[in-house]
Amino acid sequence: MKVPYSRPHLTDAEISEMVETLRSGWLTTGGRTHKLEKEFAAFCGTKHAVAVFSCTNALHLALLAVDFRPGDIAVLPTLTFGSTANVVIHAGGIPLFVDSDPKTLCMDPEKVESSLQRLSQGETVSGVRSPLDRVKVIMPVHYAGQMADSDRMRKIADRFGMRLIEDAAHANPSRYRSSPGAPWRRCGETADLTCFSFYANKCITTGEGGMVVTDNDDWAHKVRLMRLHGIAKDHSLSTSSWEYDIVLPGFKCNMMDLQAAIGIHQLRRLHQLWGRRKEIAAAYDRAFADVAAIETPTILPGRVMSWHMYVIRLRLEKLSIDRRRFILELDRLGVGTTVCWKPVHMHPYYRERFGFTEGDFPVASGEFKRAISLPIFPSMTDEELNKVIESVGSVAEKHRL
Ligand SMILES: Cc1ncc(COP(=O)(O)O)c(C=O)c1O
Repeated sequence: MKVPYSRPHLTDAEISEMVETLRSGWLTTGGRTHKLEKEFAAFCGTKHAVAVFSCTNALHLALLAVDFRPGDIAVLPTLTFGSTANVVIHAGGIPLFVDSDPKTLCMDPEKVESSLQRLSQGETVSGVRSPLDRVKVIMPVHYAGQMADSDRMRKIADRFGMRLIEDAAHANPSRYRSSPGAPWRRCGETADLTCFSFYANKCITTGEGGMVVTDNDDWAHKVRLMRLHGIAKDHSLSTSSWEYDIVLPGFKCNMMDLQAAIGIHQLRRLHQLWGRRKEIAAAYDRAFADVAAIETPTILPGRVMSWHMYVIRLRLEKLSIDRRRFILELDRLGVGTTVCWKPVHMHPYYRERFGFTEGDFPVASGEFKRAISLPIFPSMTDEELNKVIESVGSVAEKHRL
């Protein structure tokens, strides 16, 4: 038996809705996309939700919505998927990378503050030298589904007059509160704009897909315009009139009804899907609690975790093999894994353009070398779960120092 890293959980509801969509005569953005937007906004507790083709598109359009311009700077973690940084480059901007908190692997707010402080004193910070007023946006990433310290980020953003755009690709459903007495807030309620992914392995999927949520009418309007050529008219609702105006040079990244057909049912089943993710995470926590070579994820108080990923960190000093070899042995035993992620500053484009060396962000580069993302997906059977637990345990035991 082989256990894949991920496998989508689809039911007859998604399949029937897809078939009905195919038969309906309307494949692209239309009633089903609008329904998913309405239901997703209600789920997040925001006024608007705008559906796009990917979270990458969502992040890009969110930047443009807040008037992020060429030469502007966005603060973001280096420990993220490339798209968080790439969209800053697409918008003509400059990423100001920040290291992670070793506990959660989310961007460290202390380091955000100190980077901005140093920048304001005229220092070159993370390869960037620029007046502080060019820093327009802070973009935390909710690593694995655990929300970054949104209130701290909000305070920093407000103090320096910046916008907060959260990369919530992993974070539904996730929740946050800054202290035990504070009210819980849903992911989507803490930032100016929040961007979700519905890629195939995410908490809910549309195959490819993404969503921007916000309470701000102007930003939502701008994202809506920019997702479809800057056309100031909602074509999907009216096929009778040929006339339209282009008011902005927009992109083509609208969500199709074919995608939304899947998403509507995934969202309805989110709690069921999440329930299984929680069971798997709890089983891993129990199984690896006493394995000396394995560190399990730390979830802070004040966080509700979506469990998009379950990332173990190897205690390499207790093993005779490195992470690469550990993964190879798991692969040989039939367990699919991945690594999230090689920090962005270690990739050739960023390394060469900004002159980074690996050790510039020691937490991210150090933790990357010992991290393994294990399979965690709602359709995982008990047999598959046990196989992962046994395989990880046996590789750790075989190479124990
Ligand atoms: C943190 C993060 N941000 C953004 C993305 C991009 O999502 P999408 O594939 O929907 O563009 C991903 C995808 O895995 C991600 O992990």
